Amino acid sequence: MRILIAGAAGMLGRDLCTAFAGEEVVSVSRAELDITDAAAVFALVHKERPSLIINAAAFTNVDECETSIDDAYRVNAVGPRNLAAAAQETDAAIMHFSTDYVFAGDASQPQREYDPVGPVSIYGKSKLAGERLVQALCPRHYVIRTSWLYGLHGKNFVSTMLRLGGQTGMVRVVDDQLGSPTYTIDLAQAATQLAGKPYYGTYHLSNGGVCSWHQFARDIFAAAGMDVTVEAISSEMLSRKAKRPAYSVLDNQMWHLSGFTPLRSYKEALQDYMKDYKSQSGGTV
Ligand SMILES: NC(=O)c1ccc[n+]([C@@H]2O[C@H](COP(=O)([O-])OP(=O)(O)OC[C@H]3O[C@@H](n4cnc5c(N)ncnc54)[C@H](OP(=O)(O)O)[C@@H]3O)[C@@H](O)[C@H]2O)c1
Repeated sequence: MRILIAGAAGMLGRDLCTAFAGEEVVSVSRAELDITDAAAVFALVHKERPSLIINAAAFTNVDECETSIDDAYRVNAVGPRNLAAAAQETDAAIMHFSTDYVFAGDASQPQREYDPVGPVSIYGKSKLAGERLVQALCPRHYVIRTSWLYGLHGKNFVSTMLRLGGQTGMVRVVDDQLGSPTYTIDLAQAATQLAGKPYYGTYHLSNGGVCSWHQFARDIFAAAGMDVTVEAISSEMLSRKAKRPAYSVLDNQMWHLSGFTPLRSYKEALQDYMKDYKSQSGGTV
């Protein structure tokens, strides 16, 4: 399979490049391909002629999206539109990543792929617009919604906790948002199982298990063997620019109905992350 990966220098993008290393991969960072530049996207896709385009590029700073609204829609909606239109024009399929933040967060049970959406932030709204454009413009799509990503190649909740906990011995973390943390290596490996199969459509894909950010922080310090006090606070006390869904647990229904093995639990994945993190940082957390 010849694969074009856009946003390849991002946290998920880097693990996608590794996971697809056995294929013929053309990977491009933002500096090499700005997905909001339609002419550049079409030119590259026509030149490289991939059979699959993977979009790992996004505007992921949820709070910044609230004030940079045009940029959020430019990257999260116009960008995927360009890639999907170029895929359709050249007979390629597209894999696009989206988010649990397309949901309002007022549900009380895990959200399935075809449950009603209702984003409460510009980030969520712009990502939903991107999904819809991909779905409309290129029927051979895999739209993958995932949640609470962390990985070895980008700033994320786990690395932030390890840094803050190490510096101060105490962190304050919200306990009124529930979700499923997902390791980018697990997600990237799962993506290789879908690629090339005619099982097009929308998928929820996250590690198993549910926790609050507060519980997750406790799990992180336990896995790292660090003695850090984790104080529970409410989202209101943080007063962030963007509202987050209170409950955004994803039911990976289409994944299991399609016959794929469920992703392992987030706690198991976290153990592996910690080993990988330690070896990357020379044995220390
Ligand atoms: N992180 C999470 O917790 C989370 C949760 C659910 C879903 N997701 C989704 O998962 C996907 C991957 O996220 P991630 O965490 O890997 O994000 P990330 O680390 O922020 O990576 C995104 C990449 O996209 C690049 N990019 C931004 N604008 C671009 C443009 N106009 N053209 C080309 N590239 C551009 C960024 O480059 P610069 O760094 O140079 O800007 C960055 O390398 C995204 O679709 C995201 O919405 C993420």
